[in-house]
Order: sequence, then structure tokens, then C-alpha cells
Amino acid sequence: MKLIFIGPPGAGKGTIATPICEKLGIPHISTGDLFRKAIKNKTTLGQKVQVIIELGDLVPDALTVALVKERLQDDDTNKGYILDGFPRTIGQADSLSDFSKIDAVINFTISDEQVVERLSGRRLCTNCGTGYHTETMKPQQEGICDKCGKQLIIRPDDSPVSIKNRLEVYYDQTEPLIEYYKNKNLLKDVDGSGTVAEVIANTKAMIETI
Ligand code: AP5
Repeated sequence: MKLIFIGPPGAGKGTIATPICEKLGIPHISTGDLFRKAIKNKTTLGQKVQVIIELGDLVPDALTVALVKERLQDDDTNKGYILDGFPRTIGQADSLSDFSKIDAVINFTISDEQVVERLSGRRLCTNCGTGYHTETMKPQQEGICDKCGKQLIIRPDDSPVSIKNRLEVYYDQTEPLIEYYKNKNLLKDVDGSGTVAEVIANTKAMIETI
């Protein structure tokens, strides 16, 4: 199964994709994670995109499409995948249709207030990338990852200024994809405002209808 997860920043795309991918036995391909890995490893790509990401702007389409196209050539994608955070512009969606036939696009809906609450409380493991939240998904020991014991950090683009910009960028460049995929009969809305367990259950139920 080939799925796209879209929604505003902090809608829970990554949180929900992780268990769904485990259940379906397919990879979770997050462009944000791929960029953050490149930044951590100080690759040429990482150096190009670091400032763009910290400000909350979008990486140019050509770079992003090339990255995803290359990732989709890996053997682990044969059974399908979830694309999390890609495409994010009409240009990216048009390019994707040249090299992938998507089964459905799951659109997670939440309010702007929830976006701010979720992103302000998000904590991320510097080592394995596991996500937490200071109120809703607390680690057992404050500031430490349950899975690998390494330190949790605040993502540089979760600052109040970047969150505001990311929301503006979302409405300007990514929200038009909702209409785009609705017109292709691929769009499925999931209410992303419930608890993590509720949203996972609703997403699984939605996927069973595809
Ligand atoms: P990316 O990493 O994709 O950021 P994003 O889309 O802004 O999404 P987030 O990762 O912030 O949120 P999410 O929806 O995954 O929520 P999460 O599950 O973490 O991209 C980062 C940057 O990379 C972009 O700004 C851009 O610069 C660049 N980039 C990436 N893709 C690109 C592309 N295609 N084109 C160009 N540039 C690109 O949850 C958030 C928090 O809420 C967590 O703390 C979590 O614990 C909590 N939470 C989640 N669900 C719930 C729930 N149901 N109830 C309570 N808390 C919850």
C-alpha cells in the first residue's frame, strides 16, 4: 500500500505513521527526517537545507523530489510506504505522479491552537529520533529517551517564530493539495484532534476501507 500523510505541522503525521508502518510492514519515509539526518551528518545536502528548515521555510522542490525519488528506489519500498510530509507543493505532487502511483492520501485535521500546543511541547531524541511531548507523551525520565537512553531536545524549528512561519507556509503552499487530491478521489480525512490512541484507531479503520 502506498500512502501519503498530509496535514499541518504538528498534526501527528510522524506519531501516527510509526505504528501504522509497523503494522503494515512498510517503511515510514519522512522528508523532514531525511533532511534532519543530512543536517546531523553534515552532508552537502544538510548544509544546503539547515537554515531553510530552522526558519520553517520549504526546501526547493527540485532537491526534495530528487531525495524522495532516490529513496523510493530502495528494496524495502517494494511492498509500499507511507510518505510523511511529502508532497508539500503542487509541483512536488505533479512530480511524484511521474514515479509513484499512490493509493490514498490521509489528511490529518487539527486546529491552529492545537498545532501550537503540540509543537511547543514536542521533544525529540537526538539519537534515534523518537518523538515525545511534555504533556501528552512524556518519557519515563524527563529529558531522556525511553528507547535508547539519549538526551531529548527541542527541534530548532519548534521556536514560536518558526511555528508561526510553518503554519503560514502550510496554508499558502500545502493546503491546496487537499483540493488537488480530492479532485483525484484520493483524499481521506482523519480527525487528528483526539488522543494518540484514538487517532491511530481511526487511521487504521480508514486504511481498511482503501
Ligand atoms: P517535517 O519534519 O515534515 O515537519 P512538519 O510537517 O512541520 O511536521 P512535524 O514533524 O512538525 O509534525 P507531525 O505532523 O509529524 O507531528 P508529530 O507526530 O511530530 O518537516 C520539517 C521541515 O523540513 C519543513 O518545515 C521543511 O523546511 C522541510 N521539509 C520537509 N518536507 C518537505 C517537503 N516535502 N518540501 C519542502 N520542504 C520540506 O507530533 C507533534 C507533537 O504532538 C509531538 O510532540 C507528539 O508527541 C504530539 N502528538 C502527536 N499526535 C498527538 C495526539 N493525537 N494527541 C496529543 N499529542 C500528539
